[in-house]
Amino acid sequence: MAEEKAVYGIVGYPVAHSLSPLMHNAAFKALGIPAVYKLFPVQESGVDDFFKKLRDPRSPILGLNVTVPYKERALRYLDNIAPLAQKIMAVNTIVINKERKLVGYNTDAPGFLSHLVELQFNTRGKKIAMIGAGGSARAILTVLCMIPERPDSIKVYNRTASRLEEFLADLRARVDAGIVEAVRSIDDLGIPEADLLINTTPVGMDQDDTPLVDENLLHRNLLVYDLVYNPPMTPLLRMAKARGARAANGLGMLYYQGVLAFQHWANVQLDDDIKQKMRQALEKGVI
Ligand SMILES: NC(=O)c1ccc[n+]([C@@H]2O[C@H](COP(=O)([O-])OP(=O)(O)OC[C@H]3O[C@@H](n4cnc5c(N)ncnc54)[C@H](OP(=O)(O)O)[C@@H]3O)[C@@H](O)[C@H]2O)c1
Repeated sequence: MAEEKAVYGIVGYPVAHSLSPLMHNAAFKALGIPAVYKLFPVQESGVDDFFKKLRDPRSPILGLNVTVPYKERALRYLDNIAPLAQKIMAVNTIVINKERKLVGYNTDAPGFLSHLVELQFNTRGKKIAMIGAGGSARAILTVLCMIPERPDSIKVYNRTASRLEEFLADLRARVDAGIVEAVRSIDDLGIPEADLLINTTPVGMDQDDTPLVDENLLHRNLLVYDLVYNPPMTPLLRMAKARGARAANGLGMLYYQGVLAFQHWANVQLDDDIKQKMRQALEKGVI
């Protein structure tokens, strides 16, 4: 009988659009590891059962990515939570070890930072404007408050102001968030003075979406970072380019978080050749 393949995958709902299988299956293939990365679309009613079954010694699942809406909820199922994930209070990567214990990490936040490094954007002393207060915004805000390259200020706007206020109260209890200010109107983000504008909302996933910010505020000294990566040229990024601003989509963040997740699962440092294969697989996956 053929040996059963190890299984990795992404749990969330919905997950059909995920590009992660492309990246991770490319890495397993290139490394000759007999494993497969699958999609686990799990609805709310099934999530307790899904995580419970991971503890079964017969389960072939050895590692997971976690996506919307379970990044925070997943914490309750874990045996160990890495320090950064504890600060962020969300995990996107889980390792299931030999004893079937679940260890959680957050690789979204360092993935974002790694992409900024690639873009040669140093956050130290910079003015940052951010839109959104969901899971990805929380990870990014938390880590920006923790790094030695401390920004000068971070202004944040969220459509639902109460959600942002609640998150900031919580954040202030965990990290020194003195540089973060919630603004009530998107016009108060200080974009004309900002060095970096980050969109952490899904607005832009549809080519016909209207960007949330006024085009006239964008300028040449600004890096506009859209976490959306499909389509690669979102309406916001197109607008940024037209105004002479630098523009980056979130594919780099997805790639770096995936590399870090894979390294946790396989307990290896990936070499450049494998990483390149992962990135190429992702790039082929976007329309
Ligand atoms: N590149 C990457 O690696 C990466 C990683 C993670 C996420 N992402 C992308 O980032 C986006 C957000 O993900 P998430 O996990 O943070 O989602 P989330 O937890 O659901 O949060 C969504 C955020 O967007 C806001 N929002 C949604 N629709 C809006 C609209 N029409 N107008 C204004 N604000 C709106 C929400 O505001 P309210 O609070 O008012 O609802 C909330 O702040 C998604 O497109 C996701 O694919 C990319």
